[in-house]
Amino acid sequence: MVSFKELGLVNTKDMFAKAIKGGYAIPAFNFNNMEQLQAIIKAAASTKSPVILQVSKGARNYANQTLLRYMAQGAVEYAKELGWENPQICLHLDHGDSFEVCKSCVDFGFSSVMIDGSHLPYEENVALTKKVVEYAHAHGVTVEGELGVLAGVEDEVASEVSHYTKPEEVIDFTEKTGCDSLAISIGTSHGAYKFTPEQCTVDPETGRLVPPPLAFDILEEIMEKLPGFPIVLHGSSSVPQEYVDIINANGGALPNAVGIPEEQLRKAAASAVCKINIDSDSRLAFTAAVRKVFAEKPAEFDPRKYCGPARDLMVELYTHKIKEVLGSDGKAE
Ligand code: G3H
Ligand code: 13P
Ligand code: ZN
Repeated sequence: MVSFKELGLVNTKDMFAKAIKGGYAIPAFNFNNMEQLQAIIKAAASTKSPVILQVSKGARNYANQTLLRYMAQGAVEYAKELGWENPQICLHLDHGDSFEVCKSCVDFGFSSVMIDGSHLPYEENVALTKKVVEYAHAHGVTVEGELGVLAGVEDEVASEVSHYTKPEEVIDFTEKTGCDSLAISIGTSHGAYKFTPEQCTVDPETGRLVPPPLAFDILEEIMEKLPGFPIVLHGSSSVPQEYVDIINANGGALPNAVGIPEEQLRKAAASAVCKINIDSDSRLAFTAAVRKVFAEKPAEFDPRKYCGPARDLMVELYTHKIKEVLGSDGKAE
């Protein structure tokens, strides 16, 4: 048993309280490998932004939970080495699907866990979330619950359609479970295909797909029912079209990939939404940079020569998100 405090990590309590007051959001970036982690820490350290490092079930299967946790511990030291004296770094389990997985993360030094019972019948979601909260809080670890289902794939939890969060459930859920933050469904989804072309309109100037707006009316209703309560937005990648274009121009095939426009994320960040989850954009940046090197330098076979440019592009991406979209720069001086 190791406490996250011994590792120099922080939970989300203060981060979220300050973010709601300040009208900005904390970036929650998923990581699966060293280059992503280096890029996240470089961006957070250079902007002095609090940051949440997220580990999904897919990441644990791919990279091993033990290794990822030690990498996060190393990331705190790396951040200090980069001149960030007081790094505000949280290590978070993304889409935990059982009490046992959440407990193992708490015992192993994670500072925050998500228990995703959103696919369960309401009362079962309440009971599972409450059980995780009781264990996690006993160890100072914060807990994210979820109400409403995102379309697309939440790890192995697949749903064809999204079910928006029902505002009439949020008070009961947060009171009964004692969770610290609530992930909601207002029209986002995971991955690089958040909307079908039929759901979008076409920008006459650029010919690009323009997605429908998020359900801000539902967010407002939730905020009225839970004043000052931390809200989390999953599925918040913007799917930058410049990356999609590079991928498609260099042998890839991502037709009609579309994400959440940045102006909608800015609007969300200014509200009670204080954690914004971004994974796919990092995957797109990585893939775009690697495909470009492969296309331009077919004789290259040193992974550092294509993972290096991928890392550089991810630093650019994360820095942009922090400074231009979420507004969390300078909030962890
Ligand atoms: O929740 C979705 C995240 O992007 C994690 O995805 O399960 O493929 O690692 P993953
Ligand atoms: P994206 O697929 O939009 O990056 O969402 C990531 C996410 O919500 C992780 O939990
Ligand atoms: Zn998610």
